[in-house]
Amino acid sequence: MKIEIRELREEDIEELSRIESESFSMPWSPGDFRDLLSREYCMYLVALADGEVAGCCGLTNICREGNIDNVVVAERFRNQGIGHALLERLICLGEEAGITAFTLEVRVSNETAIHLYEKFGFVSEGIRPRFYEKPAEDANIMWRRKRFAK
Ligand SMILES: CC(C)(COP(=O)(O)OP(=O)(O)OC[C@H]1O[C@@H](n2cnc3c(N)ncnc32)[C@H](O)[C@@H]1OP(=O)(O)O)[C@@H](O)C(=O)NCCC(=O)NCCS
Repeated sequence: MKIEIRELREEDIEELSRIESESFSMPWSPGDFRDLLSREYCMYLVALADGEVAGCCGLTNICREGNIDNVVVAERFRNQGIGHALLERLICLGEEAGITAFTLEVRVSNETAIHLYEKFGFVSEGIRPRFYEKPAEDANIMWRRKRFAK
């Protein structure tokens, strides 16, 4: 399978919304995705698997802190390294843009995502109680901070 990572385009939105709906209880709408395309401080990436839209992830740059959101891969493409490829590119582009610390939140029960984030050096720095709805659940707040040489 050939995996390509590139920036989000208008033509990806319909399929990404479908992937959101199968993956999250409170999915983003096509309008939410369209808003992103116009925001300079947001970076959104899409993964194509043999040319098909397979997933996405996003980064908001707030004063050189990168907030990662909407990491998602379509069910039929999971566990084939696409999530890893998306995050690798996103973090690389974020670092090129001067981001020194990345953060994200994840449901405490989401072992697959937590495993993936830990592979990139994210560590848990706190719990936000009942952050999520449908169903209510705590969020694990994870950070990946650049280690500066002494
Ligand atoms: C999280 C998600 C994006 C990962 O995408 P993916 O393309 O499957 O990720 P990868 O294939 O690169 O890596 C998955 C890793 O999780 C591991 N994994 C799979 N099931 C697991 C489980 N139940 N518990 C722990 N790890 C698990 C895989 O073995 C793999 O790790 P490895 O490379 O060390 O073997 C995908 O599962 C998804 O879209 N989930 C639904 C949406 C979601 O929860 N997004 C995160 C919101 S914070």
